[in-house]
Amino acid sequence: MDSYKIHLSEAEMPQEWYNIIPDLPSPMPPYLHPATGEPITPADLAAIFPRALIEQEVSPERWIPIPDEVRRIYQLWRPSPLHRAWNLEAALKTPARIYYKNESVSPAGSHKPNTAVAQAYYNKAEGIRRLATETGAGQWGCALALACNFFSMECTVYMVKVSYHQKPYRRSLMHIWGASVYPSPSDRTQAGRSILAQDPETSGSLGMAISEAVEDAATHDDTNYALGSVLNHVMLHQTIVGLETKKQLALAGESPDVLIGCVGGGSNFAGFCFPFVADKLKGKDLRLVAVEPTACPTLTRGAYTYDFGDTAGLTPLIMMYTLGHSFVPSGIHAGGLRYHGDAPLLCRLVHDKVIEARAYPQNPVFEAARLFAETEGIIPAPETAHAIKAAVDEARGCKETSRAKCIVFNLSGHGHFDLAAYDGFLEGQLKDIELDPEEMIKKALAELPKVKGQ
Ligand SMILES: Cc1ncc(COP(=O)(O)O)c(C=O)c1O
Repeated sequence: MDSYKIHLSEAEMPQEWYNIIPDLPSPMPPYLHPATGEPITPADLAAIFPRALIEQEVSPERWIPIPDEVRRIYQLWRPSPLHRAWNLEAALKTPARIYYKNESVSPAGSHKPNTAVAQAYYNKAEGIRRLATETGAGQWGCALALACNFFSMECTVYMVKVSYHQKPYRRSLMHIWGASVYPSPSDRTQAGRSILAQDPETSGSLGMAISEAVEDAATHDDTNYALGSVLNHVMLHQTIVGLETKKQLALAGESPDVLIGCVGGGSNFAGFCFPFVADKLKGKDLRLVAVEPTACPTLTRGAYTYDFGDTAGLTPLIMMYTLGHSFVPSGIHAGGLRYHGDAPLLCRLVHDKVIEARAYPQNPVFEAARLFAETEGIIPAPETAHAIKAAVDEARGCKETSRAKCIVFNLSGHGHFDLAAYDGFLEGQLKDIELDPEEMIKKALAELPKVKGQ
């Protein structure tokens, strides 16, 4: 009988994360201090991050051991299955072989706990009592609430206002795991108050919520900040996804031709693809496709330059593709993809043309999600559906060229808390936002910070 799922045993779960930094073709530009514009030092980051994570952020080591306590929690759902999408293939009548790595099996429903558990562990080990964070779609907030719950820590979540109202049940999950959740911008922080003073009706954005969480952490000694994406240590923790996928594909006797993931800040894509990038850099014929929404087209229409990671300009300046830190994306239903920047490691590889990027409007994305739900049964998160749309397009391309490619995508999460979005789609109410960001992008890019030599 044909296998639908390729499993690894718990003993086969990787014991180390993969750090791509030593394998990059060129060194990464440093983070710059927001006030001085000089490269930041570990001491600058110590106000909001634990030493262990600061070390991981710049580590030159290729392999970093996963602590036993983290592995024990991972074992609750890891290794996650790799599925062969037989039914989707049949529906598409494609000669392509399609696989997906199923990260929706975590308790929070996405890949996000892979780094949340690690971040909570290192903070707890260094005596931190509370973590503050932002969340867009609510997936990251749930993941951090879950992780803090396991390590008996408090968790404060600033949830982008539009998602706070669109997704009440994500809030409930965070509450069950013991977190406090506030709609952002809020009046709890200086950053939130000044944004509200300028625009009381704002729908919020990840950039604004990050400003609030960073300020909360920086102004409380017992509190650190946890970021769900973008930073190098987050990409590192997520590589468990790609490392498992590599082993599973080998068990299936496969070598991938195309790897696909959606991109918000870049963590599920990076975690899934980075373990394969080294092979590509050594000459393997492999395409890596990063997919984003046309409503927030960071990689496809942004500028590769230094910018703040947040709206208020509290974070270090990061060299990345950016739409400008004041860009506020429209309230599309893939809330986790509404971020003005992207992970600097991912951006570097896009800039160096190792990784390709493309963007889709939301209606065709939901159409692909519906086909996936009809064939494979799983209702994907709207973020994930972007990857599915690209996989479907690749598979259709194979039909035209009669090439039987091996296409693998990361199913970064399920959409069980996104059903209002699906209702909107089924009722024909979703708008495809493509043209309207043009003016917004121009305006936000005009507000980029001035950096020496740039
Ligand atoms: C299911 C899911 N996929 C993808 C993303 C995008 O984030 P990242 O690019 O860091 O993986 C999110 C963010 O919230 C998410 O919830």
